Amino acid sequence: MTDVAEPHILCVDLVRIFSADGVEVQALQGLNLRVEAGEMVAVVGASGSGKSTLLTILSGLDTATAGVARVAGHDLLTMGGRERVQYQRRTVGFIWQQTSRNLLPYLTAAENLALAINVAGTAKGGARTARIAELLELLEVAEFADRRPGELSGGQQQRVAIAVALANAPRVLLADEPTGELDEATSASVLEAMRRVNEELGVTTLIVTHDPTVSEHVRRTVQIRDGRTSTEVLRSTRLDEHGAEQAVAEEFAVLDRVGRLQLPHDFVASLELQERVRLALEPDHVGVWPGHDGAPPPRPRKAAGAEASGSEPSGAEPPGAEASGSEPSWAEASADEAPRRRGRHAAPDPAEQPAHGEPADPAPGEHPDPNGGAA
Ligand SMILES: Nc1ncnc2c1ncn2[C@@H]1O[C@H](COP(=O)(O)OP(=O)(O)OP(=O)(O)O)[C@@H](O)[C@H]1O
Ligand SMILES: [Mg+2]
Repeated sequence: MTDVAEPHILCVDLVRIFSADGVEVQALQGLNLRVEAGEMVAVVGASGSGKSTLLTILSGLDTATAGVARVAGHDLLTMGGRERVQYQRRTVGFIWQQTSRNLLPYLTAAENLALAINVAGTAKGGARTARIAELLELLEVAEFADRRPGELSGGQQQRVAIAVALANAPRVLLADEPTGELDEATSASVLEAMRRVNEELGVTTLIVTHDPTVSEHVRRTVQIRDGRTSTEVLRSTRLDEHGAEQAVAEEFAVLDRVGRLQLPHDFVASLELQERVRLALEPDHVGVWPGHDGAPPPRPRKAAGAEASGSEPSGAEPPGAEASGSEPSWAEASADEAPRRRGRHAAPDPAEQPAHGEPADPAPGEHPDPNGGAA
């Protein structure tokens, strides 16, 4: 992929170190993320993985320690105070997890929106009234225009909050756990509302959440682990053999600019990989073997066929790790994807098949000596 057009959100090797009482916490440890204009992307990760830290930096409320963070043409590490205020007023909209943080409790839904439009200075008089009606309509909460937040359900409050976040006609919408306080069914309907907003208004949308089911509502889900992007799930639709549309989700490991990637925990555990591993470059993939003493060294493969890795992503057997008979145990990363990503496996919907499911052997052959073949 070439860098012709600048993405709407670009993070390169983003680092955020907090120092508290002389203890350093590396909340972001070289995070890479790219979101194109108009895309809707979810970032998921366990508690403490750095999601809120990332969003606070992207919203201009905090500054990264190092790296690059650019949003819609603004350089978030170097921008001054005046640009920062303009950035928050005009370029981004936020939705926070705590519904109480998004809305003023003593104003009605329509008044909350009017206030946000006044602050942004995007419309006045009749145009403002029309904009309020349009946004409440879009979020399907027009009938609650005259209710205060305390008179609305959690889901209704978050819909009004999304409308408020859109009041300044932002180019980028950032949401931190927007469904964190909602039950499953309400979460799904709020996420669907966000997807409709994304489609109808074309606003670039980034949602961070610990809820993995968010991936059912977005085309691309980025997983962060320990302050770095580790994997991405891409959803698309394909026609099956009967011509019916089928949702397909493929998971990729993320490869950074200097070639680092994170192996999934279960691959590492299953082969007892630790400290050092052996690598081997093959015609269309890279093999990874345990490096501990006693492991049989990989031997040259007889034939490197097209079946060796997931060169046909759809429905292909997941490349993974396997120990079979006297063959060496190994895990591998397929090399047939765009330079930014490396395929780990192609699988049906992760709802049906766990992301880190049973690994299968893509090429039950033999492998070259990593010392001879590895770069
Ligand atoms: N202001 C701060 N000072 C010190 N450490 C911080 C600060 N903010 C965050 N951290 C630490 O940085 C790490 C990442 O925190 P962050 O809030 O980004 O995680 P998160 O992924 O949003 O978690 P959660 O899902 O629980 O909201 C944590 O270890 C946290 O303790
Ligand atoms: Mg958080």
